Amino acid sequence: EEGENGKRKVVLVCGGAGYIGSHTALVLLEAGFDVVVLDSFVNSSPESLERVLKITNCGPERLKWHKLDLCDQAALHEILLQYPPFDSCIHFAGLKAVNESLHEPLLYYHNNIVSTLNLLKELDERTCRKLVFSSSATVYGNAPAPITEESHVGQGITNPYGRTKYFIEEILRDFTISDDHHATNAKEGHELSSRWKIESLRYFNPTGAHPSGDIGEDPRGPPNNLAPYLSQVAVGRREQLTIFGGDYDTVDGTGVRDYVHVLDLAEGHLKALEYLDKVPCGFHTHNLGSGSGYSVLQMVKAMEKASGRPVPHVIGPRRQGDLASVYADPSLAKKELGWECTRGIDEMMRDLWAWQSKNPNGYRDA
Ligand code: WQD
Repeated sequence: EEGENGKRKVVLVCGGAGYIGSHTALVLLEAGFDVVVLDSFVNSSPESLERVLKITNCGPERLKWHKLDLCDQAALHEILLQYPPFDSCIHFAGLKAVNESLHEPLLYYHNNIVSTLNLLKELDERTCRKLVFSSSATVYGNAPAPITEESHVGQGITNPYGRTKYFIEEILRDFTISDDHHATNAKEGHELSSRWKIESLRYFNPTGAHPSGDIGEDPRGPPNNLAPYLSQVAVGRREQLTIFGGDYDTVDGTGVRDYVHVLDLAEGHLKALEYLDKVPCGFHTHNLGSGSGYSVLQMVKAMEKASGRPVPHVIGPRRQGDLASVYADPSLAKKELGWECTRGIDEMMRDLWAWQSKNPNGYRDA
């Protein structure tokens, strides 16, 4: 990916040491971009980026990183002064544990929203006005499946984490509208060539890992999400899986979700950057989902097949706030981004097992 000056385009990746961030950094490097990562490392490790360099065999000048809490605007400003304007920014940085957000709502609202406000202000000053935001299907709340980009948002969200994603999307939308306003009032520096373009990608259920098994999901403490819990049971790090409810109106009574391989997701970010080069300005959003759903029991069987190990499980009470079925209508991303999932459930579980079996304790073993 060359810029006009024949040099590689550089993407700023906030939260780039995390699960989806590190896989996206890898895909960007392999597509010819250079990457600068900002990460607080509160729920990630620089080890993931060391491994990205190893997997891609890229020189260290192509992937740089800084330990930074985006809530510290002065520190963010100092770091950005070291670089020329970036081609674009992908913003993954944020706290994302649903349970934790129920107990610590102020931490979640402060961290996730203030970090985004700081980032927008600093990028606007440095005229990097192309942003891809890591959003989530959780913004759709209790909208019925199949979920399209026209489905209602903001209603029936059951936790502060999900609401931070919804509030941030509304902030981004307002920000692009204000940019419109500045342009129509011919405020200097807002001519069409430097108008804000924002893409909010609504992920369904990210799952799996790079097939090398060298990078993957490594949540702090007991995982909230199904996939890492499954792989930790299979590898013997946890006793058994508790299935939250077996009496839903689904194929086998257990919850159905739309699982997306994390590399498909990472490739979706590349497609989003290309899309933003085509659109003139404004706020855009697309679902990143497969369009097919799998139940918890189907995921248990797929992990047993991939690992060759039993995954002990019991059916327990429903989890507060869960819906029976959540899956995407992915047609808009296919039409406008030219993106669709290419990896199925068996590949997701095979790659998840490759990661967990090689790294039973995640990056802590490094
Ligand atoms: C999947 C299925 C559970 C754990 C959440 C967030 C969403 C996004 C993805 C960040 C459900 C069942 C789970 C367990 C279980 N996160 N389950 N036992 O709830 O669809 O979405 O993660 O962006 O914002 O809301 O994903 O992985 O928690 O649950 O039975 O120990 O697995 O009931 O049916 P969910 P999940």
